[in-house]
Amino acid sequence: MNIIVVGTQWGDEGKGKIVDLLSEEADYIVRYQGGHNAGHTVVSGQNTIILHLIPTGVLHPEKVGVIGNGVVVDPAALLEEIEMLASYGVSVSGRLFISEMAHLIFPYHKALDKASERSKGSRKIGTTGRGIGPAYADKMARIGIRVIDLFDPPLLRQKLESNLTEMNLLLKEAYHLEGFDFDKMYQDYLGYGERIQSYVTDTSQLIHRAMGEGRHLLFEGAQGTHLDVDLGTYPFVTSSSSTAGGACTGTGVGPTQIDRVFGVAKAYTTRVGEGPFPSELHTGMGSLIREKGGEFGATTGRPRRCGWFDAVVVRYAARINHLDGMAITKLDVLDGLPEIAICVGYEYQGRLIHEMPASLSVLQSCTPRLVRLPGWTEKTAGVTSYDLLPQNAKAYLAAIAKEVGCPIDMVSTGSRRKETITLTHPFSAPK
Ligand code: GDP
Ligand code: IMO
Ligand code: MG
Repeated sequence: MNIIVVGTQWGDEGKGKIVDLLSEEADYIVRYQGGHNAGHTVVSGQNTIILHLIPTGVLHPEKVGVIGNGVVVDPAALLEEIEMLASYGVSVSGRLFISEMAHLIFPYHKALDKASERSKGSRKIGTTGRGIGPAYADKMARIGIRVIDLFDPPLLRQKLESNLTEMNLLLKEAYHLEGFDFDKMYQDYLGYGERIQSYVTDTSQLIHRAMGEGRHLLFEGAQGTHLDVDLGTYPFVTSSSSTAGGACTGTGVGPTQIDRVFGVAKAYTTRVGEGPFPSELHTGMGSLIREKGGEFGATTGRPRRCGWFDAVVVRYAARINHLDGMAITKLDVLDGLPEIAICVGYEYQGRLIHEMPASLSVLQSCTPRLVRLPGWTEKTAGVTSYDLLPQNAKAYLAAIAKEVGCPIDMVSTGSRRKETITLTHPFSAPK
């Protein structure tokens, strides 16, 4: 059984918790896009561990983690993360594999990311500043440097010299910044190559063999549907294909090898960075949800913008990813609210819209059509059985499933593994 897990909103839906839980039933956990812009939190025992680049499943000692060709790898960040895991007693040696075809992030990508954001002023995207966009831009411009190039010093020299000459010019002339020294960067990256070499392999073959042996694979999406470069709220998106389709191009598997696509949606909506967000709450309710939900970025620490559950957003994700089922996370954060609203459509120039508009200016002018439901005073925090949920929480979940048009297979009621209601386990659901 091969399952893709995708975020259905603007990221931070709780994918880390859900992937960690589902990893119990998986053999291989595979990242297919994005880079260390992601922040996937797993609460395990006394520890809260945030993974950025390495698949969440490696926290289970016997599982294999794969970083696919669609990921952009900052080798310094990767080595740091390997060390961070080691400090928790987690060794990835012999069970972490990195695609030789993955593209590399260099310090100039990071510098350019930050400089271009600064120069955009109020039109900035609010990136994580990790160099993700510029690294993917180089890949598409066919000047990217790949992991495999680290093991061919003359080629690395030639590509890096050429890229750095151009990049230094850009940084100095357009952004009035200091450039980078070639020799240092070249030596640094040769050194990273030596340190990561034992992890590097042809991951598409590795995955193909695993599938042939009947192993279970879990494809761990980063970011979310509406941050997808093609299908998201462009240009306020990331630079990769974070929707389900990206799992195929990002790892080298065919679409027919995927059995299920599982979506993760938060019981309300958050967004970090700039961009349209029709159901955003600018009132005290937004701050209350932020505080109760601990809605501060796992990567950058920025406060997340908060709003009501937007069914238009998740309905679109259900269609684009062809979701078979979904998990609703952080239901417990809504405990005690007198009233909860769901955005079921957008009002635009006197019309009601039910689908995501492609035009940014239309989306920016949309106001949410809200349906209000009574809240609940009982606690859902830590509840593990659907039957034990308060009646109004059940009604809220039923309204979400109906509006989105997708079954809810799991409900998360806390950050720990066991704080979960499983109605249908994605790995045991019929195909
Ligand atoms: P991801 O990027 O999708 O993996 O999500 P993040 O890890 O960035 O953010 C989700 C946050 O919510 C993390 O701090 C999780 O520990 C936490 N979390 C996940 N599920 C639940 C839940 O059901 N209830 C509560 N209260 N917290 C949760
Ligand atoms: P996870 O996997 C939430 C957002 C940034 C910014 C935009 C572009 O933890 O859900 P980038 O640095 O990727 O060029 O920034 O995308 N963003 C995320 N928001 N969760 C994430 O990852 C994100 N990764 C990128 O805030 O708005
Ligand atoms: Mg996150």
